[in-house]
Amino acid sequence: MQLLCLNLFLLLLLQPPNFCQSKRLFGPHSTELSGRIKGGEEAEIGFAPYQVSLQRTVGSHNCGGAILNEKWIITAGHCVENFTPALVNVITGTNKWAEPGGIYYTEEIHMHCMYDQPYMHNDIALVKLTQNITFNELTQPIDLPNRPVRSGDEIVLTGWGAEEAYGGSVENLQKLTLGFVPLDECYDIFNQTSSMGVGHICTFSREGEGSCHCDSGGPLVSNGHLVGVVNWGRPCGVGFPDVQANVYYYLDWIRSKISGNDRCYY
Ligand SMILES: *[C@@H]1O[C@H](CO)[C@@H](O)[C@H](O)[C@H]1NC(C)=O
Ligand SMILES: *[C@@H]1O[C@H](CO)[C@@H](O)[C@H](O)[C@H]1NC(C)=O
Repeated sequence: MQLLCLNLFLLLLLQPPNFCQSKRLFGPHSTELSGRIKGGEEAEIGFAPYQVSLQRTVGSHNCGGAILNEKWIITAGHCVENFTPALVNVITGTNKWAEPGGIYYTEEIHMHCMYDQPYMHNDIALVKLTQNITFNELTQPIDLPNRPVRSGDEIVLTGWGAEEAYGGSVENLQKLTLGFVPLDECYDIFNQTSSMGVGHICTFSREGEGSCHCDSGGPLVSNGHLVGVVNWGRPCGVGFPDVQANVYYYLDWIRSKISGNDRCYY
């Protein structure tokens, strides 16, 4: 609760003009620290056709997400928590969130049944659209994983994340290649925090690189499969791993939701 209050307090102080959903904070924080998807470079057009921008009102980027199929988008729970469907507009098929390839609207928001229970766990949500997405060269679904990520796997993060902690989103989609950090190591790095559990996956490259605000909910892809959804960390790129929802861990929940079954898996 304390971390969340700190987060809200800083957000109020530092709310940028182009305000998007904060990546969740962990631990102490300094506003001098900066980084976006840094070390990080601009993604080529069509590099991540599964990437979407979630916008509360069209024209204001809030969070990232990824296309699972014609009707379903995956994102972080904190990106859509307490939102009505009208606040989740989905922009597809573009490297510039302000220049939509397509705009889709939300019919239903499905938070994970154990979202934030315990705190910072199960930070994953599915969004069902009112209409089928039209696929094209710049708009494609991403496959779900068929195995857990292993050490040595390359993971690519994409997003419009801020250039500095609490900054606004960048205009052009960025990409960054990251490595996998085994959960036991990551858990030790974060001093056995209860905010980390079996549903998380950690990524890291080096200090100065990592996800930042406005990257929340965005995709991490390895070998053509969606392996993570941006969750939390110590912003931004300050030498700690970033912590993501482990998509492989949530496969049963994702599949049951998409097939219309409401069972709670965790
Ligand atoms: C939407 O896509 C699904 C899956 O391809 C298809 O079965 C369905 O007919 C489509 N609906 C419309 C309205 O096009
Ligand atoms: C873990 O604890 C050590 C020692 O107190 C501290 O230096 C380090 O920053 C902590 N790690 C995190 C992620 O807070």
